[in-house]
Amino acid sequence: MKILKNYKELSSTVADIVEAQIKEQSKLVLPTGSTPLGLYDELVKRKLDWSLVLTFNLDEYLMNIDHPYSYHSYMKKNLFDRTNIYPNNCHFPFRPTLSFEDKMIKGRGIDLCILGIGSNGHIAFNEPGSTFDSRTRVVDLSLQTLQDNSRFFDSVEDVPKQAITMGLGTIMESKKIVLMVNGTNKLTILNVAMNGEVTEKVPASILQKHNNVEVYYCD
Ligand code: GLP
Repeated sequence: MKILKNYKELSSTVADIVEAQIKEQSKLVLPTGSTPLGLYDELVKRKLDWSLVLTFNLDEYLMNIDHPYSYHSYMKKNLFDRTNIYPNNCHFPFRPTLSFEDKMIKGRGIDLCILGIGSNGHIAFNEPGSTFDSRTRVVDLSLQTLQDNSRFFDSVEDVPKQAITMGLGTIMESKKIVLMVNGTNKLTILNVAMNGEVTEKVPASILQKHNNVEVYYCD
């Protein structure tokens, strides 16, 4: 794990990794949430050429994708509309989930997957109990996640109860994984995930089994 001085440094360090990949015309898996906001700002500032990049988002709520709080809207607002990426090159999990996975896996597969971690150890929307070989699918969100993510909605009742997410098996097929973690409130779960037992009770613990994973943390 690399501990960075502050959020700005976390964002620019991961932006360097993304920038190196973009030059190679790759397939990227991208996260949402508050942690990657600085990363997206930094990438926009760098005025990179996204014209040959394919992106795949980790997850999306089961909701109207045009809703301002959907992950489609989040990505448009924070990254896609601020770069020259082609909208057709931006993918989100959809049904049938097999066609989504086909698009990801086809050719060279995923070069780089950027992840955040939920307070209960979830990655994407793979909640505790998700199997390590899980694929893209519809899931029920845990009470903890509904409560955590209610800050992006008007109230906890407004948070969609279900989502569609890449599976843990899907994520693990990425050639390289970068986990971004921001805030002391995530330290305990990060420690459990990185140094504790590899168990489906802590979805992020599967990352211990990946041979090319980097973890970046700042307070
Ligand atoms: C959501 C997303 C996850 C993300 C997590 C943490 O639940 N589905 O992909 O990692 O939030 O988000 P934050 O960075 O806001 O703490």
